[in-house]
Amino acid sequence: MMKTRTLGKSGLEVSALGLGCMGLSYGYGPAADRSDAIKLIRAAFERGVTFFDTAEAYAQGANEALLGEALEPFRDQVVIATKFGFQDGDAGKGQDSRPERIREVADAALKRLRTDRIDLFYQHRVDASVPMDDVAGTVKDLIQQGKVKHFGLSEAGAQSIRRAHAVQPVAALQSEYSLWWREPEKEILPLLEELGIGFVPFSPLGKGFLTGAISESTSFDKSDFRNIVPRFSEENRKANQALVDVLKQIGASLDATPAQVALAWLLAQKPWITPIPGTTKLHRLEENVGAAGIELTPGNLNTIETAFAKITVQGDRYPAHLQERVGK
Ligand SMILES: NC(=O)c1ccc[n+]([C@@H]2O[C@H](COP(=O)([O-])OP(=O)(O)OC[C@H]3O[C@@H](n4cnc5c(N)ncnc54)[C@H](OP(=O)(O)O)[C@@H]3O)[C@@H](O)[C@H]2O)c1
Repeated sequence: MMKTRTLGKSGLEVSALGLGCMGLSYGYGPAADRSDAIKLIRAAFERGVTFFDTAEAYAQGANEALLGEALEPFRDQVVIATKFGFQDGDAGKGQDSRPERIREVADAALKRLRTDRIDLFYQHRVDASVPMDDVAGTVKDLIQQGKVKHFGLSEAGAQSIRRAHAVQPVAALQSEYSLWWREPEKEILPLLEELGIGFVPFSPLGKGFLTGAISESTSFDKSDFRNIVPRFSEENRKANQALVDVLKQIGASLDATPAQVALAWLLAQKPWITPIPGTTKLHRLEENVGAAGIELTPGNLNTIETAFAKITVQGDRYPAHLQERVGK
């Protein structure tokens, strides 16, 4: 069975690797077939995954409803994380963390998830028009009412994290972190360590790129978010293959795939880090779950560090209009 980890000082225990469920409904082309998606989620649980990630904004509640159905038979054995904070649950419309909206999202999410509590409720993006004290205070009330168990933030900056944590202890921060996006190491990881907050890296496989499955000639569906990500331009995909080459080399010596090396590297950074890779395919789920059993040695970590230090990742991780929303 997969090992578990605790998110900071919160006491919230989750499998070392979770399952990011976004791509089953949203972001990377058309939604997966519903019964296949349910099978995939249940297969993850059977393989020891007890941490499932969704959001109101993943197909306006449809992804939550999918999880609700898939997880119902073993609801009490899993941790469900969801997120509030976009207008009408539509990321295209911008942030909305007004207290009345947070309460509305919580009630709607409880229904869709077929449950009486949300284990971890994240603010999806900081909302500059609502003071963090009000956001954290609203979640605190929901916790007192028993509707929510733990509070989280996503892509929040240091100041927001401190403010929120002073009102309602934050169990976890969910932000992008992987071998090709290491900015959280500068200021955020030390802060989380200081405050005892767990860290949930999203896009831990670099939105699929670090697995080696994507090349310059890959074509994405027209609704695929990666079409607007500078890092995924044809030219940058070509240049960034150098990163995958390193992961392949290291993997070969460990009998591991590049995806497994990328996930094992994250797990090796801190004992309170739990990545949430996403996939729609059973064989990839199995591959990713396998990474939880791979322990990189200090020598392996050193080799990765040295090789990556020589490569400059090409292209921003977000287009400008989405970049404005992070780190606030
Ligand atoms: N808080 C936020 O703002 C935020 C933002 C983005 C994501 N998230 C969360 O984080 C989760 C994971 O992030 P993500 O989905 O963006 O990126 P990811 O986990 O880094 O990568 C997912 C992509 O990689 C592919 N993939 C997965 N395993 C693979 C393997 N072993 N070999 C080859 N390809 C593989 C998947 O395609 P297939 O489906 O074809 O396998 C999918 O396109 C999401 O599901 C979501 O829950 C949160």
